[in-house]
Amino acid sequence: MKKITVIGAGNVGATCANVIAQKDLAREVVLVDIKEGVAEGKALDIWQTSSILNFNTKVTGVTNDYLKTKGSGVVVITSGIPRKPGMSRDDLIKTNAGIVKSVTEKVVRYSPDAIIIVVSNPLDIMTYTAFQAANKDSQKVFGMAGILDSGRYKAFIADALNVSPKGIHGLLLGGHGDTMVPLPRFTSVSGIPITDLLNQEELDSIVERTRKGGGELVKLMGTSAWYAPGAAAAQMVEAIVDDQKRMFPVCTCLKGHYGLKNVYLGVPVKLGSLGIEEIIELDLTDKEKKMLHDSADHVKKMMKTLDDMKIFANKNC
Ligand code: LAC
Repeated sequence: MKKITVIGAGNVGATCANVIAQKDLAREVVLVDIKEGVAEGKALDIWQTSSILNFNTKVTGVTNDYLKTKGSGVVVITSGIPRKPGMSRDDLIKTNAGIVKSVTEKVVRYSPDAIIIVVSNPLDIMTYTAFQAANKDSQKVFGMAGILDSGRYKAFIADALNVSPKGIHGLLLGGHGDTMVPLPRFTSVSGIPITDLLNQEELDSIVERTRKGGGELVKLMGTSAWYAPGAAAAQMVEAIVDDQKRMFPVCTCLKGHYGLKNVYLGVPVKLGSLGIEEIIELDLTDKEKKMLHDSADHVKKMMKTLDDMKIFANKNC
């Protein structure tokens, strides 16, 4: 791919650009920020690792200059304020909706064909915000959360079993928040069902820790995480750029899937060069379905908060 843009040169954006460059996913990655010099500095710093880490992707940083993002194939949006201790992701909605709206409009002006990956929080609502502002098919506007949440889930499983995280497969559905729906039934280690390796109590505690995984880091660091969120977004970019058609949990607009409509929520999808190429519908148990619907209800309530701000014409996704 010729060009990938990452908006926001904070910790998540810079990490994402760094991973994209290290994986050599494009000819150029452009990092954009509103704070004078920050994107330029971080981009230069990353670029200076190119001969050390052996990659070609040129890393460019700009302050608010969207002309430099022109013709991007994929754009990752990380803009917005992060959580402080004691805040929920939902507390960010009013501030971040305005930011994500204006950023998305500028992105689309210069890269009308770009696939947009949203990382800003509250994730499901900011993805819906970007969808409204981009005015393009939801197949091309989606959000990153499931890879991060399942990455955390798998890390905790690796710790509990004292095994390599490689070969652990696991899936989480739902919103990116405390209502996310982990699915031990779809979790295995080298093909061995997780239920054969951990007892219910151990699994419950891993699931609970995963749900609060972002908050655990906010408490420790005073701000939200970046290594795993940045790497997770870059993995989605890779699946698109290489047309991998990999199955990942992604925040996408449901159109009747799982009995849900017009709600952005995390479900497994097939990700390739066209963006969301297929939404995978699992046969859930009644209990799992209820958890997913509860999560959807929570996201819908937040979507309504956005609709009530009346910054969009309320287009169904
Ligand atoms: C987290 C933030 C990025 O879960 O939502 O760490």
